[in-house]
Amino acid sequence: SAIVVLNGPNLNLLGSREPGTYGNATLADAELSCRDVAERFGRTVEFFQSNHEGALIDRIHRARGDAAGLVLNAGGLSHTSISLRDAVLAVELPMVEVHLSNVHRREAFRHHSYLSSAATGVIVGLGIFGYRVAVEFLCRTLPPVAG
Ligand code: DQA
Repeated sequence: SAIVVLNGPNLNLLGSREPGTYGNATLADAELSCRDVAERFGRTVEFFQSNHEGALIDRIHRARGDAAGLVLNAGGLSHTSISLRDAVLAVELPMVEVHLSNVHRREAFRHHSYLSSAATGVIVGLGIFGYRVAVEFLCRTLPPVAG
């Protein structure tokens, strides 16, 4: 079963969006890096990005049957969405929350995330490397893949 990496609003623009804050790497670069590390553990990674809260919630629900763990960068929804948090709690999968930027060095409204108290762990400020670290953590801690 796969590790599902979910990205929320505006993260499709990664690489061109505020590069001073979010870096020059794209979501495709992040995906390659995650696939590379997952392969070493015999695991697969599925990337999903949406600008729509409901689409993210639907994807989390679908993960209930088919995923081993979640990596979630919900973008600005992290700071607003109780529903996204509820979805994570509902599926009972380990979830690592990722933010590219160090949200604690930024505006106060970014300091609180509704997702953090539902997360196994939180990675902030490491750029796209954070996704890779999250995937490696899940690979090392999830029960081994059969076969
Ligand atoms: C972000 C941080 C959020 O505050 C912001 O709204 C984003 C990106 C990050 O990856 O650093 O869209 O989640």
